[in-house]
Amino acid sequence: MRKILIVGNWKMHLNASQASLLLHRLQERIPGRRDIEIVLAPSMLSLQPLSVQVDRRKFRLASQNAYWRDEGPFTGEVSFTMIRDLVSYAIVGHSERRHVFNEDLETIKNKMAAAVRNEIMPILCVGETKQDRDDGETKQVLHDQLMSALSNLTAGEVQDSVIAYEPVWAISDGSNYTEHIVAKPHQVAEAVNYIRRYVTDVFGEKAGKQVRVLYGGSTVPEIVSGFLDVEGVDGFLVGGASLNYQVFTDIIEAAWRWQRKGGKE
Ligand code: 13P
Repeated sequence: MRKILIVGNWKMHLNASQASLLLHRLQERIPGRRDIEIVLAPSMLSLQPLSVQVDRRKFRLASQNAYWRDEGPFTGEVSFTMIRDLVSYAIVGHSERRHVFNEDLETIKNKMAAAVRNEIMPILCVGETKQDRDDGETKQVLHDQLMSALSNLTAGEVQDSVIAYEPVWAISDGSNYTEHIVAKPHQVAEAVNYIRRYVTDVFGEKAGKQVRVLYGGSTVPEIVSGFLDVEGVDGFLVGGASLNYQVFTDIIEAAWRWQRKGGKE
């Protein structure tokens, strides 16, 4: 049985005191529950203070990124080794890292290995651009991203990882996530099925069954139960909506309601 996972990716928003206030509000509203795991990914700046403030019965922390070398002359970078005591998870290969910061397959592969080496669970993001989809290349893109990123990992390491399917065309540009295009459940079903099949084929039945796969396009409370109904979807990697404590709480409550009604039967 895979546990539902909801990750709030705060991206490059909130200074340290704003981040602390948002965490405070979320901790007030969200009771600790065992059946849904909630993870917050603040900026690198806020990881240290939030790691002291966070109620670990309710939330775990993730980094949005880190550098794959453990230490050395890499001005401006922070390594997985430096954050290993602060976080449980790390987002790796987010589409903004791939497309805005030109992270290539090799870099993402190295980051996956570095996260695992430092006992941090990676949340690997994969997904096609609009152009890739229009060209009929979605599966090829997913294949190439998965093949490269997972190539240094054992079946056990893949099984404990998280993969987020992020259709790049269904991620907001930051202007207004509520009006942004949302992928259709059948499109998500097809991609998630492909991801899980890839993991099963390469790493075996157990890894394919246990790896958690999230939807990583724009998420609003209204889509939660319909997307959780999709075979193989285990939760969400939420962007803009995770910055608003009310909306993020609504997303989590929608997942609880779905779970209470029986979840995936
Ligand atoms: P939005 O929810 O802001 O569209 O972002 C999705 C995303 O990139 C999650 O990491």
